[in-house]
Amino acid sequence: MPIPVILDVDTGVDDALALLFAAAHPELDLIGVSCVAGNASLERVVENSLRVLAVAGAGHVPVAAGAHRPLIEPARDAGHVHGANGLAGIELPPAAREAEADGAVAFLRRTILEHPEPVTLVTLAPQTNVALLLRTHPGVVDNIARIVFMGGSAGPGNATAVAEFNVWHDPEAAAIVLSSGVPLYMYGLDVFERVAVPQDVALELAASADPRAALVGQLLNHRIRDTEGGESVYLGHIGDAGAVCSIVAPDALRTERLPVRVELAGYGRGQTVVDRRRFPGEDLFHGLADGWAEVEVALGIDDERIANLFLDAVVPGRAADAAPADAG
Ligand code: RIB
Ligand code: CA
Repeated sequence: MPIPVILDVDTGVDDALALLFAAAHPELDLIGVSCVAGNASLERVVENSLRVLAVAGAGHVPVAAGAHRPLIEPARDAGHVHGANGLAGIELPPAAREAEADGAVAFLRRTILEHPEPVTLVTLAPQTNVALLLRTHPGVVDNIARIVFMGGSAGPGNATAVAEFNVWHDPEAAAIVLSSGVPLYMYGLDVFERVAVPQDVALELAASADPRAALVGQLLNHRIRDTEGGESVYLGHIGDAGAVCSIVAPDALRTERLPVRVELAGYGRGQTVVDRRRFPGEDLFHGLADGWAEVEVALGIDDERIANLFLDAVVPGRAADAAPADAG
């Protein structure tokens, strides 16, 4: 049976890749999408998500608008990374439908509680919507199988030297999710930045006659990092899509169950501290080891396998072309 998933997104170049994968892979049942400000304004994120789902042939998947800004921090978009329209400047046909009338928190509550089996909640953005959901309707945890979140890092950050963008954008929201008691899977920068598509493949896709394959190629080709010299470099990261791929191919990742906390003060605000010590330290002996959550943290990934899993799902016919001819 396909796994029921809800994606919470700030579409965004790589959120778009994640939506395309979730809508395409037969082992996933994309039952809803909730939107939050992050990479772009909420209005832009909603419109981008609706447009991308239309290209994915998933115009039936409901989309709900959530928080306009983090719980405490101001809204800070990432136009310098995802382009002014949040979608690498790619202009897709305007959405032919509206978002759900009742907003993300109410939408998430009814979608989760009404589903006949526990739902996997995949957060690919600042976790403001999910924090509000947990604070408003705590009973939803009874029908959440786990939260798979793209966020955090056991090592360096990207938004700051120590904090990853989604957690840094709304640290309080991340702390609420960590303390929820829901099983948590962290797909952080340690693996997020490892999965890339070769540039020649991305360029070939961008020239495809198939609208979905062409969109994938255009998104992968978006330069999201300029070097000091001012020219842009090709990265080809599938980004958020890798977190969704991990649901379908968990054995392609190496994980450890580790204590994780979010720092809320000082320069380290938004840092996910991952405790990888092998032996207890003074904090434990002196009763200072509070505020930690047990999280399954992804630390390694078979990047080529995940990249191919992604491409096989979103590029029509690719998997069949690569399949060995029948011996008979
Ligand atoms: O740090 C990477 C995360 O920030 C991704 O979810 C990307 O879409 C941005 O939201
Ligand atoms: Ca995102």
